[in-house]
Amino acid sequence: LPVEPCSIVLFGASGDLTRRKLLPALYHLYQAGQMPEPFRILGVARRPYTDETWRDELRTAVEQFGRPPAPSPQDWHPFAQRLFYCQGDLDRPETYERLAARLQEAPTAQLRQNLLFYLATKPSQFSQVVQHLHQQGLLRPRPEVGWQRIVIEKPFGHDAASAHALNETLARYASEEQLFRIDHYLGKETVQNIMMFRFSNAVFERLWNRDTIDHIQITVSETAGVGDRAGYYEEAGALRDMLQNHLLQVLALITMEPPVSLDPEAIRDEKVKLLRSVRRYTPDQAARHVVRGQYTAGQIEDKPVPGYRQEPRVRPDSNVETYVAARLFLDNWRWSGVPIYLRTGKRLARTVSEVRIQFKPTPHVLFATLCAPTPAPNAVTLRLQPREGISLRFNGKVPGLDLRVRPVRMHFDYNAEFGAYTPEAYERLLRDAIAGDPTLFLRRDEIEAAWAIADSLRAGWDERPLSQTEFYPAGSWGPPAADVMIAATGHSWHEPL
Ligand code: BG6
Repeated sequence: LPVEPCSIVLFGASGDLTRRKLLPALYHLYQAGQMPEPFRILGVARRPYTDETWRDELRTAVEQFGRPPAPSPQDWHPFAQRLFYCQGDLDRPETYERLAARLQEAPTAQLRQNLLFYLATKPSQFSQVVQHLHQQGLLRPRPEVGWQRIVIEKPFGHDAASAHALNETLARYASEEQLFRIDHYLGKETVQNIMMFRFSNAVFERLWNRDTIDHIQITVSETAGVGDRAGYYEEAGALRDMLQNHLLQVLALITMEPPVSLDPEAIRDEKVKLLRSVRRYTPDQAARHVVRGQYTAGQIEDKPVPGYRQEPRVRPDSNVETYVAARLFLDNWRWSGVPIYLRTGKRLARTVSEVRIQFKPTPHVLFATLCAPTPAPNAVTLRLQPREGISLRFNGKVPGLDLRVRPVRMHFDYNAEFGAYTPEAYERLLRDAIAGDPTLFLRRDEIEAAWAIADSLRAGWDERPLSQTEFYPAGSWGPPAADVMIAATGHSWHEPL
């Protein structure tokens, strides 16, 4: 995509996201020749940096969080010359006046008019910042000259009603085309590959339906605990933090109908249609199909770790879930009756994200009486991370005089095939936002449809404290209640590959 010269404004310029993700990504894009020429980056935050001290701080951040090798002075210098800092409090109109003045210092009209605002701020500040930008004349909903875009990142509200209210407020100051809502999972190569895998191979897509697929499991597990994010996590929990966004996005890509074209709206229309087909549960149904959990003290990689309630800044009687598992049904022609299991949690046995498509057994098991053991049904596993790849399980005859069967695997491994380099999710997403391609960003109706699902899954939680079978020791695969839930439909959790 052609990229036009522009200025990128980072609100929250002294924060963690800027240091860990955004700046390293922008630096790597620059190194790869993917940034427009010319461009400028303007950081806005409260801390009293100068251009020079902010640049130094960012150099350390790129060394620490970017891909090696660390930038040499020759590489860093030309990039650093494009970094500028504007100190200010996001609550105050003067900050935006100063920002406007600094933007006006740019030498070309495109740098003054093409503006990408990245709100790496608290979500409670989104509306306010956008309103100030609008009042300052920096955001024109239908720009006659140049373009202005806003990038924001979750949480977009904490339920359907608050997400709707946020969208309404944003819509007062910016058009939907100007809003780029990030779900960083969509920036991952392996997640983008889901569409490529499904719609460029005739072999799989023909089988991708209720006739041949028995069930689907989507697992996103992490060994990490809540870390220093308890303030946020106590308000969010696993369902809002992960399932409402990342897992439902993966689900949509795995199960949606083929879009009519690669037009961004065609793809997003299919995702919304799919999300709307997810069955909404009454509180009684939710109690049968959804399980939450919370980690207690345990061991991760042989080291003892505390339970969630003992983590700093977590309430000692917190009922916030650090794990959620759900059985979903899609009420549409393709998937009617096929259970789809989602699970995600912190302090689980391993860090892995994968999708497992479990096929039905053959209609008649020819070898069942002769063969030991019985052939296992086929499965396709999409390894999203780490050890990215795809694997197909099928049965083979064990060489020998007796008839013995064994499941074998065909593996596609990203690193072996394509080399280790894959762009970081933020590189891809920032590049697309600069180029104005909204395909990998969430549209308003998508967010609201996903919240409607999340709200129905958590129905009844707030009234009920966690029960004994909902706790799990750190380092395990989750609470016993999740095993009971999946067993009710005759399945069990697959240990990820
Ligand atoms: C974030 C969540 O969106 O995704 C975190 O807020 C989680 O809690 C993270 O750890 C996982 O992302 P990744 O890319 O490491 O799988």
